[in-house]
Amino acid sequence: MRRRHELLVSPSCCLIGLVLLLLALSARAQRQAQTGPSEVAALNTIFSRWGLRASTAWNISGEPCSGAAINETAMDSDNEFNPAINCVCSYNISTVCHITRLRVYALDVVGQIPAELLNLTYLTVLDLSQNYLTGSLPAFLGKLTRLQYLSLSINALTGVLPSELGNLKNLISLGVSTNKFVGPLPEVVENLTKLEQLYIDSCGLSGELPSSFSKLKNLKSLWASDNGFTGKIPDYIGSLSNLQDLRLHGNNFDGPIPASFSNLINLTNLRIGDLTGELSSLAFVVNMTSLYTLDLRNSRISDNLASVDFSKFVNLNYLDLSFNSITGKVTPNLLNLNPLEFLFLGSNNLSGILPDMISPSLTTIDLSYNMLSGRYPSWVNMNNLHVNLVWNNFGIDNSNNSILPSGLNCLQRDTPCFDSPSYSSFAVDSGGSRPIRGSDNSIYEPDDASLPVASYYVTNSTRWGVSNIGRFMDSSNGSYIIYTSRRFTNTLDSELFQTARMSPSSLRYYGIGLKNGMYSVVLQFAEIFFPDDQTWKSMGKRIFNIYIQGDLKETDFDIKKQTNGKSYTAVQRQYTVEVTNNFIDIHLFWAGKGTCCIPDQGFYGPSISALSVSSYDGNGEGDPGSQRNSTTSRTGLVVGVVVCVAILGFLALAGAFVWRQKRRRLEVEMEELFSIVGRPNVFSYGEIKSAADSFSDSNILGRGGYGPVYKARQT
Ligand SMILES: *[C@@H]1O[C@H](CO)[C@@H](O)[C@H](O)[C@H]1NC(C)=O
Ligand SMILES: *[C@@H]1O[C@H](CO)[C@@H](O)[C@H](O)[C@H]1NC(C)=O
Ligand SMILES: *[C@@H]1O[C@H](CO)[C@@H](O)[C@H](O)[C@H]1NC(C)=O
Ligand SMILES: *[C@@H]1O[C@H](CO)[C@@H](O)[C@H](O)[C@H]1NC(C)=O
Ligand SMILES: *[C@@H]1O[C@H](CO)[C@@H](O)[C@H](O)[C@H]1NC(C)=O
Ligand SMILES: *[C@@H]1O[C@H](CO)[C@@H](O)[C@H](O)[C@H]1NC(C)=O
Ligand SMILES: *[C@@H]1O[C@H](CO)[C@@H](O)[C@H](O)[C@H]1NC(C)=O
Ligand SMILES: *[C@@H]1O[C@H](CO)[C@@H](O)[C@H](O)[C@H]1NC(C)=O
Ligand SMILES: *[C@@H]1O[C@H](CO)[C@@H](O)[C@H](O)[C@H]1NC(C)=O
Ligand SMILES: *[C@@H]1O[C@H](CO)[C@@H](O)[C@H](O)[C@H]1NC(C)=O
Ligand SMILES: *[C@@H]1O[C@H](CO)[C@@H](O)[C@H](O)[C@H]1NC(C)=O
Repeated sequence: MRRRHELLVSPSCCLIGLVLLLLALSARAQRQAQTGPSEVAALNTIFSRWGLRASTAWNISGEPCSGAAINETAMDSDNEFNPAINCVCSYNISTVCHITRLRVYALDVVGQIPAELLNLTYLTVLDLSQNYLTGSLPAFLGKLTRLQYLSLSINALTGVLPSELGNLKNLISLGVSTNKFVGPLPEVVENLTKLEQLYIDSCGLSGELPSSFSKLKNLKSLWASDNGFTGKIPDYIGSLSNLQDLRLHGNNFDGPIPASFSNLINLTNLRIGDLTGELSSLAFVVNMTSLYTLDLRNSRISDNLASVDFSKFVNLNYLDLSFNSITGKVTPNLLNLNPLEFLFLGSNNLSGILPDMISPSLTTIDLSYNMLSGRYPSWVNMNNLHVNLVWNNFGIDNSNNSILPSGLNCLQRDTPCFDSPSYSSFAVDSGGSRPIRGSDNSIYEPDDASLPVASYYVTNSTRWGVSNIGRFMDSSNGSYIIYTSRRFTNTLDSELFQTARMSPSSLRYYGIGLKNGMYSVVLQFAEIFFPDDQTWKSMGKRIFNIYIQGDLKETDFDIKKQTNGKSYTAVQRQYTVEVTNNFIDIHLFWAGKGTCCIPDQGFYGPSISALSVSSYDGNGEGDPGSQRNSTTSRTGLVVGVVVCVAILGFLALAGAFVWRQKRRRLEVEMEELFSIVGRPNVFSYGEIKSAADSFSDSNILGRGGYGPVYKARQT
């Protein structure tokens, strides 16, 4: 996190900086200047409350406004000068200094925001970001009316944002990202008319954006992603015509994207995503030709790709239109756009053949999950180009199977790559580099291909594959495989968890050539990068969705929530799924939620440690070493609805009865029931009710400890 540097570049800041510098220089000539005693006392009290020591560069026991504290450049240029103050000593004919800037950055200070801050009335800059400050945001901050720059981002602050913030009329930049606030953005933001930067991403706010927000005409950066904001995306955002950087993804906003957005022609960075409701067209972007990053992923856009002439986007470096309903051909003008480096068009409805030429600037082309066909153009296997063509209609045979990394023929629509399906299980240690035998007796195969940005891998045995899409935004070196040497609790297989795969957009594992039938899918997770202590890094949040065979199994899945906030603790999820076309598709999908920048910029998205898939009725023939013991995971059944338990009781009874005749079928049903654990949608109450004939008395079999036991028939 180095937002600080971005924050201090506006012209007005520079001017103020210059003035301060001149004042500081003139002050230095007059050694007698002293800091007001109430400020000294307040500063000392604040530091002792927080258990902080001043850095050696300055003089907290003596005259604090001496040394580095009166060197204007020291604070900006020296990251070691932290905590840091900066003073202006020109008051009362250069006899009095006042503390104008205070920085306590990323020092994991634990505590509240102390009332003594109120005595530092001359503060213009207050940066307390990346600590573990708790409690609410005190109303008295509204009295520090000289503040121009206030950052409290990445702390553990709670409660609502106080309306007194509206008194800070000189604010140019306000950052409260990544905290645990609740409630809406207060109406009073309308009084912060000088505001140029507002960072409220991941801070817990919800509700509709207040209409008064439309008065922030000077706003250049608005980061509002990963909150619970609801309602339509407000029209008036399109009137904030100075906006350069707008991030709205990962909320509960309804589309369509307002037509007024077409006015935002000064945008260089636009990230909208994860919309529900009405479809949007692409037309609103046509005049946003200053864009460097355009990310409209998962935004319910329905349009023809040709409706935008991208050749005018002479600065565009990153374009993500994936997970929409975009039709048409992959247009040559887009592929030949010279500055474009990253292009994500996956999971749309693009058809036709690929153009013959691409811009040499392109390093990443994601076209997976479309309807493309025809021959490979010559560029597909260019050096340094990552291209993902998984799940299209390319006909691939022996003559061209080796042009791209092998196995792509197994990952096209409707084109099996095996003569007869022979597998009934597989297991993968995500990120692992050697086979591991798990405590369930499965052999977890290694999965250590780096698979950056847009790539895939299929095992030589064509038993399983993996496809990964996405670039970690704002990070040049995002990690697709993450490691730790920690031991893990809640598992016998600690080693499986020491590596994990992480994806900034979409990660899919495939089972290939499976015999059809019912399968158990076990996914294993653990949080290995966000600690569970009182540090700013513990505020990291990872949230994603899980689909199996295209069905949504988990929404907003948060590994740490499953373990009551504990890191390095294994979480297992089991699902029963049907394989009907010899193929299984396990999809981890980032829907814009979770923190973006902990512990580093661009650290987010789903992660998985291991997975295993096994048939309930396979006998493991031709499948050495990978058979799971299907009698595991019968523990942990949470007693919920009495009727559920009653049904379970009945099926156990019925099971005992049917056992002699239909052993195999029973196993399937039993496992289905046991997999109810943590997965309340397997049988709805309505399904159970109808299966048990509305719990009619004629279906009562007996009475158990939880109430009557009913007979039910599953149809
Ligand atoms: C600290 O302040 C005292 C005066 O209170 C002064 O004598 C001393 O030189 C200062 N030390 C530094 C390193 O500036
Ligand atoms: C002010 O701080 C900068 C950066 O730490 C340093 O290079 C410079 O020498 C300092 N100036 C004075 C007068 O101490
Ligand atoms: C500085 O001047 C102001 C009025 O101009 C006065 O109120 C204040 O007490 C003075 N401060 C000191 C420390 O002399
Ligand atoms: C602020 O300073 C005054 C003395 O000038 C003192 O009486 C008061 O207690 C201080 N307030 C805080 C919150 O430190
Ligand atoms: C904004 O400021 C104006 C006057 O400066 C005041 O009348 C109004 O009540 C303030 N609005 C809010 C919501 O605080
Ligand atoms: C866009 O920015 C330019 C300077 O970069 C400025 O002159 C212009 O007024 C801005 N346009 C809008 C609509 O704010
Ligand atoms: C884009 O700009 C052109 C020329 O200024 C204008 O005619 C057109 O209406 C604009 N399109 C949109 C969608 O704003
Ligand atoms: C995809 O596009 C074709 C026309 O090219 C259309 O017939 C089809 O309905 C579209 N499918 C989806 C899922 O949008
Ligand atoms: C592979 O080769 C076959 C036969 O030569 C051809 O029909 C097919 O289009 C080629 N596939 C690709 C993706 O180039
Ligand atoms: C897969 O096959 C390729 C080429 O046939 C070979 O180089 C590679 O070592 C094999 N990988 C494994 C894991 O067997
Ligand atoms: C990425 O690079 C930055 C700066 O070079 C470094 O601080 C960070 O640790 C790196 N992150 C990873 C995940 O390697």
